[in-house]
Parts: sequence; structure tokens; C-alpha cells
Amino acid sequence: MDFPFDPAAMGAVLAPMASLTDAPFRLVSERFGALWTVGEMVMAGSLLQGSVEGWRLLRFHPEERSRVVQLAGADPGEVARAAALVQERVRPRAIDLNMGCPMPKVTARGAGAALLDDPARAARMVAGVREATGLLVSVKLRLGFSRENAVEVARALEQAGAALLRVHGRTARQRYGGRADWEAVREVARAVRIPVVGTGDVRSVEDYRARRELGVGVAVARGALGRPWFFAEVCRERVDAAARRAAAREHLRLHLAWYADRGEVWALRAFRGHLKAYLSAAPADARVRGLACERAGGVEEELARWV
Ligand SMILES: Cc1cc2nc3c(=O)[nH]c(=O)nc-3n(C[C@H](O)[C@H](O)[C@H](O)COP(=O)(O)O)c2cc1C
Repeated sequence: MDFPFDPAAMGAVLAPMASLTDAPFRLVSERFGALWTVGEMVMAGSLLQGSVEGWRLLRFHPEERSRVVQLAGADPGEVARAAALVQERVRPRAIDLNMGCPMPKVTARGAGAALLDDPARAARMVAGVREATGLLVSVKLRLGFSRENAVEVARALEQAGAALLRVHGRTARQRYGGRADWEAVREVARAVRIPVVGTGDVRSVEDYRARRELGVGVAVARGALGRPWFFAEVCRERVDAAARRAAAREHLRLHLAWYADRGEVWALRAFRGHLKAYLSAAPADARVRGLACERAGGVEEELARWV
């Protein structure tokens, strides 16, 4: 089976972050060597209802290699129907199922991490999407929802035909608090034969190396914000200041082109999450100035000065 990346390769995966891992950021990350990227979570139901915003989130840049769509939902039949439509319209290389989102508005409907409480339903979802699309299916999960049962869930997902698991080393209740438990991620990896990629708290090259030594793949979310060159650094490549600055400006350029139909002011607002991260080393007044800026030229100047 050919997954869009080799989990045994050196390097890291870009884990999805809603409203941040859009096509421009995924592309910049891929150019720095991200092994694989995942699109932002989209509710299967919203796609079936024809949500324009939902379908918009599924667009890929023509140069993206990974082309992985992440779907969330509670009902395996609904998710399978949405996946079949996605396959027809978007031609992804794989479908990633979200069984990790801890937000109450998602879990209250039985979607996201709530699926962990019902391994049989979670398994039916994987099998249904595989049957409806024939595509590779990966799953994002946490260590548990109301109890820690990731090993049990992982075995059920493998049995149902999942090709890969991405495990965030926290329970849903922990949200983003405490430290990610990579020993627990390793335990999941030992319980299944399919590749397991861990996520949580990888912020430095040392963090990356320590996690790789556990024998699992590594995905990075927040650690790549304002720092897409992190994917090159984990492969022992040095990225000098001029290349970093050029990358930040190229990201801005790709972002403005991608959202050109919405206008520059809208696009710059949508860039703020990234800009804040790129300007993390800048003095407070420069950050305030950059984030308030409604002209692309002004934002570019701040990036040139502070990245
Ligand atoms: C702002 C934000 C948005 C996220 N959105 C998603 C998402 O849409 N789908 C998903 O599977 N995980 C999502 N996550 C979880 C991350 O993919 C990742 O598992 C988690 O942040 C832990 O990794 P990190 O410490 O490297 O950030 C999100 C995380 C953050 C911080």
C-alpha cells in the first residue's frame, strides 16, 4: 500500500490546524520537506448540504503533493457519502478521519474525539469510507474521550482497514493542557502493525529526535507556525536568515494570490495567525503595527525586518 509519505523517512508531517493549514501554508511546508500535510477539518454534513465555505476548504494548490482531506462526522453512512463526493470532485490521495477534536460543539454531536467512546462505530466509519472511495484512510485520534482506550480503538481501526494512525498524546479532556504522553503513543504503535505517527509538543529539533527514537513517526502542528523551515531543520538542514525571510515573504505572496477573490484586507486578516507567529521575536510595537496593517506592502516590510 502506497501512503502519500513514507513514515519511516526522516522528516515530519504537518498536522492539521483549522484556519491555519490552508493550501498556501501546506505548500510552503511541503517545499521545506514536510513529508505529508493534511487539510483543515471539514464536517461531512456541511459538504452534503453543499456548504460553499466547506467545499472551499478542500481546494488544493496545483503544486501540492499530499492532497489529504480531513473529514469529521458522527454517522458512518453520512461520512462515507461525503467522502465519495469528495473523491469525485477533489481527487484527494487519502481521506483522514477526525477522531481527535475535543471541542464540545463537535463532540456533543458524537463526532471528533467522542467517537473514541464507540470503537465499533469508529471502525464502521473507516470501513465505510474505504468501501465508498477505495482510498487510503488515515485516522487522527487522541488517547481517549471519557476513558483512555486508544489501544483498543487503534486495533479496531486497523482491523477495519485504516492505513495509518496519527495519535495526539493527550486525552480529549486535557485539550491542550499538560504534556503530550509519547510513551502512550508508543504503546499504541506497538499494538498495531500499521504505521503510527505521534503529535504533541514537538517544538525543537531535539524534541523531534527524542520522539523518533521511540520508533514512531512525528507530526508537528504549532511548532511549524511562523517556522515552516522547521521541516528542513529536523532533517539536519541549516536554513539561514535570508532563506527564512524569503520563505515568509513567499508564504505571504502565495496567501494573497490564493485569496485574491476575497480582497487584500480579508486576506491579510486571514494571515494574522501566521504573522503573529512570524513576528514572535519582534518587539511589541512592531507586532502591533504588523497585525494592524491592512496593506500587503506594510506586512511584507515587517516580515523583512523581523523574521
Ligand atoms: C489552532 C489549532 C487547530 C487545530 N485543528 C485541527 C484540525 O482541524 N484537525 C485535527 O486533526 N487536529 C487539529 N489540531 C490538532 C493538531 O493537529 C495537533 O494534533 C495538536 O495541536 C498537537 O500537536 P502540536 O503540539 O504540534 O501543536 C489543531 C490544533 C490547533 C492548535
